[in-house]
Amino acid sequence: MKSNARRILIVNGKGGCGKTTIATNLAVAFASQGMNVSLVDNDPQASSTYWCDQRDPNLPPISIVASHRRANMYETQTFHNRISPETDRIIVDGHSNARDRDLEMLLKQSDVILVPMLPSSIDIRAGGRFIAELLAHRAYRNLPRPVGVIANRVKPNTETHAKLKHFLECLDVPCVATFHDNAAYSKAAELGMGVVDMHDCRAARKEAVSWLELVRWIDAQPKTAAVTVRELRQRPHAAARHEIANPRATA
Ligand SMILES: Nc1ncnc2c1ncn2[C@@H]1O[C@H](COP(=O)(O)OP(=O)(O)OP(=O)(O)O)[C@@H](O)[C@H]1O
Ligand SMILES: [Mg+2]
Repeated sequence: MKSNARRILIVNGKGGCGKTTIATNLAVAFASQGMNVSLVDNDPQASSTYWCDQRDPNLPPISIVASHRRANMYETQTFHNRISPETDRIIVDGHSNARDRDLEMLLKQSDVILVPMLPSSIDIRAGGRFIAELLAHRAYRNLPRPVGVIANRVKPNTETHAKLKHFLECLDVPCVATFHDNAAYSKAAELGMGVVDMHDCRAARKEAVSWLELVRWIDAQPKTAAVTVRELRQRPHAAARHEIANPRATA
């Protein structure tokens, strides 16, 4: 990979929150800017790999690295040796069971971390715990780096959206993008596309703007986050504090 390449990890311990959707659409958004993109599929379900197999060769290319193929489930392989030296952006589709050594390896190999979260009480609760675990992780504390939450499948002006917004305001981690619950995503997934590719689809075009904003946010991040270890020590309690202050919000 190039010396100024960025590695972006999409991770959350909660299944079905949109990791693969975010990873594939983000890969497309970077590729649409002329960047050389590698998508690392860390999930044994191989959804990103399947998505890439469907991709039309006439669309901006994305290289897939099937990192889930490993000797045993407790072994996370380093993917660097399989990335092209021309790569500008590496997107890692992390899996829901990434814990301990697995999570450590993923964190060590990332410059920016994105945590997708759905607007439901169960997802908010699980996502809050995962963020607390992430910020307390030794690999993160040793080398703090930018973390952002992505609000996914949002239906504006609903009660669950209001709950998620309130939760995110209480969190020390910023919400860096909001994506709507939009049928264009499942269509894009079937076709090996991202919404940014779907110029003829009105619903997809509406979402595309937010993807390009997320690309800009990622590109504006320093290699390491400007936070002190002292500040970080206080962060793991953010989610728990929210639960104590607003027990109904995550009940
Ligand atoms: N913004 C969205 N609008 C509509 N559908 C969405 C959106 N985001 C994700 N989905 C759909 O939700 C389902 C789960 O998404 P996805 O597979 O990306 O989650 P995941 O976190 O990767 O799941 P897993 O934990 O199983 O790997 C998919 O059918 C996907 O098409
Ligand atoms: Mg997935």
